[in-house]
Amino acid sequence: MTQTATIKFEKYQAATDADLQARIIAAKAELGSRLVILGHHYQQEGVYRHADFTGDSLKLSRAAAASNAEFIVFLGVHFMAEVADILSRPDQVAILPDMAAGCSMADMANLAKVERCRRELAAHYDFDTVFTPVTYINSAADLKAFCGEHGGIVCTSSNAGRIAEWAFSQREKILFFPDQHLGRWTGHKMGIPLEQMVVWDPDMPLGGLTKQQIDDAKILLWKGHCSVHQMFRGSDITKFRAENPEGRVIAHPECNFEVCSLSDEVGSTETILKTVSASPPGSHWLVGTELNLVNRLAEQMKPEGKSVQFMSSIVCECSTMARIDPQHLAWTLENLVEGNMVNRVHVSPQETTMAKLALDRMLENS
Ligand code: 13P
Ligand code: SF4
Repeated sequence: MTQTATIKFEKYQAATDADLQARIIAAKAELGSRLVILGHHYQQEGVYRHADFTGDSLKLSRAAAASNAEFIVFLGVHFMAEVADILSRPDQVAILPDMAAGCSMADMANLAKVERCRRELAAHYDFDTVFTPVTYINSAADLKAFCGEHGGIVCTSSNAGRIAEWAFSQREKILFFPDQHLGRWTGHKMGIPLEQMVVWDPDMPLGGLTKQQIDDAKILLWKGHCSVHQMFRGSDITKFRAENPEGRVIAHPECNFEVCSLSDEVGSTETILKTVSASPPGSHWLVGTELNLVNRLAEQMKPEGKSVQFMSSIVCECSTMARIDPQHLAWTLENLVEGNMVNRVHVSPQETTMAKLALDRMLENS
């Protein structure tokens, strides 16, 4: 790559959307097969339309692993770009157009707290023979590496059931982080009673639990959640059902237990899109997940006479996903054209080895 001075981001702030769109298209054409753009379903339309592949976290992990492109630009959040870096070859680079695009749920667990949890459990149990650590893909690379190192695994919202089965085939209990709601719903679908899934509060000694509670538990659920999905309420569903007796309800498993229990279907973003798309013309849907996805789906379904309604009266956008805008995408691509790599997401080789072990176990068991 011949490098020139990095183009400053400020230059893009005053550009019109039409100008930015044209520049993204031109830069993408110039980079050709050297570039692949992966887009998560929560992305705003102004960037989502430029993605070569769209999907949920599992589908995009597979797309990253299968890609031959030199540059993998991720329209998503930081942990997704990390996964792309881990699963791609060392000569490929993963790029996140805005480094501030994190995931607040992923930040609810960190290595220091998970290590403390392991040490506290190790005072009472042989951790590596009793617990399989399972991390939701919405987590930092070092937590995936922790799972790799301790015989654990990664899961996404679309394979959590199969992954939990694998985890129980290894050891008798699961330590699940960072999303208590996905963990609880997954355990419930496997027939585990709610009282055998206890919440581990990382800020309390022994997670705020007694030794007896841990002895009796099948799953320890980390006290973490997605703020976007906690906005949905069971009362939103009850109201919709009263107004639309024939209506159908679908929610993401990051929603709380009541919302998942009251929904007809629970699934990943890709499952939500597929289920609503495959429903008969004239169907009415209430959808509990991020607003950009729901708005896009509602538009796409209109010609088929299907109505798609957002589950909350309050706007529930993922504010960090929204940081990836046309300004940042144009800035990233034009810098690549000029030979400047901006916002590379790089996981250290040591962490990559262990995190890849946990991700590969997931891909083999999905
Ligand atoms: P999916 O894997 O279902 O796309 O979910 C990712 C996510 O962050 C949902 O909030
Ligand atoms: Fe994270 Fe929630 Fe945003 Fe998904 S919607 S990326 S879990 S903050």
